[in-house]
Amino acid sequence: MAEQRFALSKGRDMGLYGQMNPGVATQAPMDNDLSFFAPGDAAALRSAFGRFGTGVTVITTQTDAGPMGMTANSFSSVSLDPPLVLWSAALRSKRHDVFATTQTYCIHVLGQDQEAMALHFASQGHDFTSFDWTAGPGGAPQLEGCLAAFHCKLDAVHPAGDHSIILGEVTHAAERPGDGAGLLFDKGRFGVFTAKAAGP
Ligand SMILES: Cc1cc2nc3c(=O)[nH]c(=O)nc-3n(C[C@H](O)[C@H](O)[C@H](O)COP(=O)(O)O)c2cc1C
Repeated sequence: MAEQRFALSKGRDMGLYGQMNPGVATQAPMDNDLSFFAPGDAAALRSAFGRFGTGVTVITTQTDAGPMGMTANSFSSVSLDPPLVLWSAALRSKRHDVFATTQTYCIHVLGQDQEAMALHFASQGHDFTSFDWTAGPGGAPQLEGCLAAFHCKLDAVHPAGDHSIILGEVTHAAERPGDGAGLLFDKGRFGVFTAKAAGP
């Protein structure tokens, strides 16, 4: 078996999302081109998790202090009947407790031109002055310009390590007409999907 060497680039542990463009693991590849590492190695695990490219969402809710938003790429559709979606919120986030308890919220799928919105709601949650929005059918703010919006009522919150899995039932859903491309997130970078040529 090929010798395994581990020489991860150093970096502060900033959780799953806090470090944009996280250092790339520089481990010697094994014969099958995969290098094992200890799952307890948070930096290496974050890097490997980051190989799973995702879309990007902003989740909003209304609070006593006004609207709140948060960028999240942990969104996943779960069920059509009943319509269920999930995302996970980090316990370390100052916004965790609001999103883990709010009864209504809206998940927005961002388009390729909405990187600024993603960065904005990653850095803070209360300033909506740069964006147009209206109160949605469930009361949660609905941001303009997104590809899709899922208004949810809280279904369940499951403790999951250093995150909470927040499961919501979709009460109202909306989609922008056309084929606008989504904003994607891969290896700590934003990007855009490029379709392969159709057919053989
Ligand atoms: C592309 C991207 C995706 C993110 N996805 C999540 C996520 O799914 N869950 C989460 O808790 N934080 C996620 N974050 C981090 C939050 O947006 C936010 O930065 C973090 O919770 C810090 O918030 P705080 O200021 O409330 O402590 C993501 C950040 C980015 C840039």
